[in-house]
Amino acid sequence: MTVTLDDTKRMAIATQLAEMKALQQMLITNEQRLMDAISDNDIHQRLQTMLEQDQKNLGVLETVMIQHGVPSEPKETTEHHLEKIQSLMEGSELTLAEKVLQHELLKHQQTMAGLVIHKAAQSVGADVEAAIAPLHTVNFENRAHQEQLKGIVEILGVGELTGQEPDQGVWARVEDAVAALTGVVGSVVTRTDDEMSIRDLLLMDHTKADILFAEILGSEDPHKIQEYFAQLYQDVKVHGLAEEEILYPALSPYYNQMQEIVDQTDLVLEMLDAMKPLNPADPDFKTQVEHLRRAVRHHVDQEEQDIFPKLREHLSRDQQKRMASEFKAAKNRLQLKLQEQQQEDPSQPVSPTQTSQSSHRQRTQPWFMFMNYSLPWKTVFQTKAVINWVEAVILLLGDRWVRDVLHTEPLVNVEYSQLFYVIVFIIGIGYWWVSQDLSQNHGIVKLGIYAQFSVFTLLAYHTLIGHLHPFYLLSGILDLIFAILFSLFLYFHYKSHEST
Ligand SMILES: [Fe+2]
Ligand SMILES: [Fe+2]
Repeated sequence: MTVTLDDTKRMAIATQLAEMKALQQMLITNEQRLMDAISDNDIHQRLQTMLEQDQKNLGVLETVMIQHGVPSEPKETTEHHLEKIQSLMEGSELTLAEKVLQHELLKHQQTMAGLVIHKAAQSVGADVEAAIAPLHTVNFENRAHQEQLKGIVEILGVGELTGQEPDQGVWARVEDAVAALTGVVGSVVTRTDDEMSIRDLLLMDHTKADILFAEILGSEDPHKIQEYFAQLYQDVKVHGLAEEEILYPALSPYYNQMQEIVDQTDLVLEMLDAMKPLNPADPDFKTQVEHLRRAVRHHVDQEEQDIFPKLREHLSRDQQKRMASEFKAAKNRLQLKLQEQQQEDPSQPVSPTQTSQSSHRQRTQPWFMFMNYSLPWKTVFQTKAVINWVEAVILLLGDRWVRDVLHTEPLVNVEYSQLFYVIVFIIGIGYWWVSQDLSQNHGIVKLGIYAQFSVFTLLAYHTLIGHLHPFYLLSGILDLIFAILFSLFLYFHYKSHEST
């Protein structure tokens, strides 16, 4: 797969978010330091409120990063830049007013970073927009903080230059500006991280999955489909595993159908894995996506209707808050684990962050991994089913005629060969079942491998010793080919399963 523009964008957004988080941590440290240095009660109080909002916004940023689902780190240059500013803020070269001014510049940088991410998300995909939605709160609060910091700079600056307080009315202007800003905020998402309950977090994931499904089903570009599927694979997998770890055990005493919910989750996880080897360019891929979408929807409906009310009924606000942090932490850990696995095993769906690293690795993949991507397994099983049926019907009805054409002796005990062909027909039904859901019925695949190898060996032996017309060996050779294909199918399946 080649690196698409949008893969790069997703990764760039992840890096930008990581940089915002680093900057946010620095803003918090600065505010604590400024509060220690400033004695004015009014300013102190304003910084205190700012600090509380920034601490909350750090949580919002972490949530957004996890929702985006692409782990990343800040660029080295940014880290160096922040270190330099930090030493300036700690040192004595700058006056207090200059330090606040520097702080205001950092706030400006943070606001712009948030706005740029917001704009970029619009051009990447609706799923990214949904993931970063809570960032609106951070952006607008930062804009308001900038206005307040301007007021503080003015008061401190005039004091440092003239030893006097500035004309009254500084705070009035600040309040006006803040009020104007908050007026703008009115229509925007103003949910804060404190209020973001476990229920909100789960709902945000469900919405993002809905959007990704719509993006896959609405796209005709295989690269886009691959990109969206890689994101969906990671998001749904991480969400499902985190729920199994945090949500379901906590609520199982209050819901007696919890096993059903867990089974549904396991089914979805299996379906995701079964889809990994499929080629997104294959028209059948979308059928499988639709299949998966329905399974996910069915599960999500039951979860939202049955389990969400239990959260409120049986858990206190504090318990729900704790669960929200645990859920975020579990998701973060699972995202990193999945990223590591993808780096080790290129047969995993390529995540947006992996494409650039894995594109060269894919060139060194063994040939059979390439086959795993390109073989239409569903067609393989369907073809063998049809071959079994055609062969069985022809030889059941026309064995005597075939033997006439080949000038071979008619059979003495016809019933044995008829029994055999009936079994061949029935095994064909088994292969058809396998083709309908590649994640199921692997016992039939194994049985098929044994049966086909046995048929080939027996036919080859009888042809060699001259008991059999070589024509019959043709079907034996077909069986051998399919026995090998079936074995490869199982090999790929279990290999990809081992890694998850
Ligand atoms: Fe869920
Ligand atoms: Fe779930």
